[in-house]
Amino acid sequence: MGHFLEDNTGSLSEKVVLLDFGGQYSMLIARRIREAGVYCEMLPYNASWERIRSFNPAGIIFSGSPASIYEENAPRCDQAIYEGGIPILGICYGMHLLAGDLGGEVKKGSRSEFGRTSFSIEEPEPLFKDDSFSDLNFCSGWMSHQDEVINPPPGFNVLARSENKTVAAIGDHRRKIYGLQFHPEVVHTPGGENVLKNFLYRVCGCSETWTVRSFIDDSVAKIRNIVGEDQKVVCALSGGVDSSVVAFLLDKALGDRAIFIFVDHGLLRLDEAAEVARLYREGLQGQFIHVDAADRFLERLDGVIDPEEKRRIIGNEFIAVFKEKALSLGDIAYLAQGTIYPDVIESGSVQGSAVIKSHHNVGGLPEELGFELIEPIRELFKDEVRLVGAELGLPDTILKRQPFPGPGLAVRIIGAVSAEKLDLLQQADAIFRNEIIKAGMNDQLWQYFAVLTDVKVVGVKGDGRHYGPVIALRAVVSEDAMTADWARLRDDLLEKVSARITGEIPAVARVVYDITSKPPGTIEWE
Ligand code: XMP
Repeated sequence: MGHFLEDNTGSLSEKVVLLDFGGQYSMLIARRIREAGVYCEMLPYNASWERIRSFNPAGIIFSGSPASIYEENAPRCDQAIYEGGIPILGICYGMHLLAGDLGGEVKKGSRSEFGRTSFSIEEPEPLFKDDSFSDLNFCSGWMSHQDEVINPPPGFNVLARSENKTVAAIGDHRRKIYGLQFHPEVVHTPGGENVLKNFLYRVCGCSETWTVRSFIDDSVAKIRNIVGEDQKVVCALSGGVDSSVVAFLLDKALGDRAIFIFVDHGLLRLDEAAEVARLYREGLQGQFIHVDAADRFLERLDGVIDPEEKRRIIGNEFIAVFKEKALSLGDIAYLAQGTIYPDVIESGSVQGSAVIKSHHNVGGLPEELGFELIEPIRELFKDEVRLVGAELGLPDTILKRQPFPGPGLAVRIIGAVSAEKLDLLQQADAIFRNEIIKAGMNDQLWQYFAVLTDVKVVGVKGDGRHYGPVIALRAVVSEDAMTADWARLRDDLLEKVSARITGEIPAVARVVYDITSKPPGTIEWE
């Protein structure tokens, strides 16, 4: 486990702990809390009271869950939480749980309310005190539940009821424990973010202390604190946003005591390696080492057809190259890595089975090399990483770089990889990218790239018959890469790209456009 997670006592004074009971919106709740300017740490539902207390939270939020509290093995929290004197907000399942635990009556809902429901506010203080809740005391909330609170626990009042009189919100003002039947975090609940803000600011007494600037200052202080006055840190760079943000944070904190290794596997897009190398060299004060390992990777990949085998070889070779270089540098105590929050937290897909899993991008390296691990952005969501990067002055070429697979173009060359194929694909891909950017489509697409298929076909070039490979173009729109839709590119744009690729790259016989969405396809071809 790396630094930055164990260090709960950092200078960010106000934190809220979110206990994850496996609800589908748990991550969204954490995002909303941070958007409200309060740092939120997500813990598994069964985190012990000692562990929770060590974070010194200003408030605790219980997430929803697909479970019912009456199910066998329903996820439950440490009961000592209720005696801790820290404000609690239970959302949906979280409300049923706390109501049941504290002596209220909860029963299986007679009717399920999925979707939009209006409710009336009976007590505006403190959660519903805001202009966004209309004079009519009437607003709609996103309900998705079955169980319902029939009688609130002793000491609790009903704060709001839904249209059909179901209890929609409860609260014990003395103990500062509240429950919501609806989901304030989803966009379908107008004013929902104000309910969360009221809990954070009015009940927990938090203020807006979590900002990009405060994060950077805090990280720099933490890095200096961990690394001390004379130790050095090494960091692997890939050209991607996560490792770049880590690099610029380290650089700010340590200057020339930070050493950056860019393992160039030769599988990036045309001119990309040179561009990122220039950017790092110019932007970083620390030592920048560009290891051109293209030949080594090509040698290892020679004749390999299976995509998973390609991935394994590239992963292992990356580690080998990095290791050789890092060890040759001598006396280095720390390795910094760009692990981000979604890598750290994995909400259980099985009900209530939240687990924390540590992903190591360069798996096993720290232990093997005797390095201590530093993970400065393991608290951040992807869009927060970009905000921090922008504040650190990183250019759009990195901040807005489309997702790019670690194994690079090796998984966009179907079948065996060779230097000639790599060169051909880089050219075709550069033409496609160039035309998309010229057409002003760059920001609308999740990913767009060319694939070199292993199909050869007949065509006519010049006066004669030509036999050559097929290039496939792939462009998708997506929110999160879990699903994707093929992009409806304009036909004049496609025509231009096709004409340029067949015209400028003599070997290419044909260009096709991939019209498969995900599912059933995947974004990449391998
Ligand atoms: P698929 O092809 O599974 O891709 O729809 C989903 C997203 O993951 C990226 N991808 C990878 N990223 N190493 C990576 O770092 C890989 O081996 C890899 N394979 C796919 C892909 O580009 C898309 O954004």
